Amino acid sequence: MNPQQYAIERQDEFLDELIDWLKISSISTTPDYKTDVQRAADWLARHMAGLGLETQIFETPGNPIVFGRRLQAVPDAPTVLVYGHYDVQPPDPLDAWQTPPFEPSVRNGSLYARGAADDKGQLFIHLKAAQSILHATGTLPVNLKFVVEGEEEIGSPNLKAFVESHRDLLAADVAVISDTHGNGLDQPTIIYALRGLVYMELEVRGPATDLHSGIFGGAVHNPAQALCEIIARLHDSDGRVAIPGFYDRVRALDHEERAEIARLPYTDEDVRRETGVPASWGEAGYTLRERVGARPTLEINGIIGGWTGQGGKTVIPAKALAKVSCRLVADQDPLEIFALIQDFVAQITPPTVTSEVRLLPGRHGHPAIVDRHAPAVEAAIAAYEEGWGARPIFAREGGSIPVVVDFQRVLGAPVILMGFGLPDDNLHAPNEKFSLEAFRRGIATAISFYQRVAQPK
Ligand code: BES
Ligand code: MN
Ligand code: MN
Repeated sequence: MNPQQYAIERQDEFLDELIDWLKISSISTTPDYKTDVQRAADWLARHMAGLGLETQIFETPGNPIVFGRRLQAVPDAPTVLVYGHYDVQPPDPLDAWQTPPFEPSVRNGSLYARGAADDKGQLFIHLKAAQSILHATGTLPVNLKFVVEGEEEIGSPNLKAFVESHRDLLAADVAVISDTHGNGLDQPTIIYALRGLVYMELEVRGPATDLHSGIFGGAVHNPAQALCEIIARLHDSDGRVAIPGFYDRVRALDHEERAEIARLPYTDEDVRRETGVPASWGEAGYTLRERVGARPTLEINGIIGGWTGQGGKTVIPAKALAKVSCRLVADQDPLEIFALIQDFVAQITPPTVTSEVRLLPGRHGHPAIVDRHAPAVEAAIAAYEEGWGARPIFAREGGSIPVVVDFQRVLGAPVILMGFGLPDDNLHAPNEKFSLEAFRRGIATAISFYQRVAQPK
């Protein structure tokens, strides 16, 4: 039987299975969901074993890693390693969801649930593609390996060590990751660069305890105010990060790449429509698409301090804290950037308060650029044409997937970022969804990719 036909006939069954997995709230951000994380790993391992993969769960100091493989007797068949993550982001704010995040629901041609696109749905595409070929033909054209982790959303703190200590188990000719999105159903994308990340807390301390603002207001420097003064100095008026040395290792964009990035316009109007802001913002001298893909940024993720409850309380808080992160691009190094920020904040902290910048351990990743000319990329392009019905373009992406550099470095394998999501999938946001059409086309594309990558040219 034809694997593509097999997949079409089982579309509903595939969807029901995915829905079952999406019901498990495998949130990695806080330890509160440990048992759900474990259940999601067990569900996956059982499912993979049921498909005929040799499956193993590896415990780590954090969440388990699920590994599965099917090695063929065919000599010289290439090996494809598929990576994904079964952990998901917290669903908050809950009341913004039209249907509950862990009660998957189909409407308007999409499946709504936390993890539908990021990344359970996209990983599931590969499992269903493998199933379709294996069950329709009795064999696979490639050696296939799956490594699926449960800590991607917190920076993959235990995956690097796992990759290093399981080099032979993971050895592959090409690694494939489907955890990104294209520009729309008619314009799929192969991502060739991802940003890195470093995550910090910036704490400012003043008086030993909270103070009455009538008694002490005017005599002490309010830590919440001092924090804002420090934060305000982290950018200049051109939207550039003002930390000395921050841009030193950033690879400049050449004319060719700028021209290519410009082929996919991204306008102020697009940003306004997508986000609801009154106007876009960013680093002067760069287009919006360059700013989110090829330039590093510094973000304030949250500010905590003083009275934040209902009503008013006249208080000078003892301390204030900001969650600060940077998106990094090649060849910036997360720990080096952290050190630069530490130095700069120490230097600009006024003598009236004290400050500390702390690294959130594990929550950082290196930026990555992948080889666009690896032979398997040709197979991926042809697979999109056949399975998706459109030729993919190459693009940079602003998000991070920490394992990419580890696959490149430790396995020496090219990584192909074959995303199947759409730009309005609401990743990390309320009403995350995955288009059923993308799900169907993704499976067709993955089937075609495995078949094509097996054919030496
Ligand atoms: N799938 C995303 C990465 C991504 C985001 C790709 C947007 C394409 C577009 C991934 O699950 C993710 O969210 N990564 C985190 C990693 C971080 C915690 C190190 C991110 O980018 O914030
Ligand atoms: Mn993801
Ligand atoms: Mn994510």
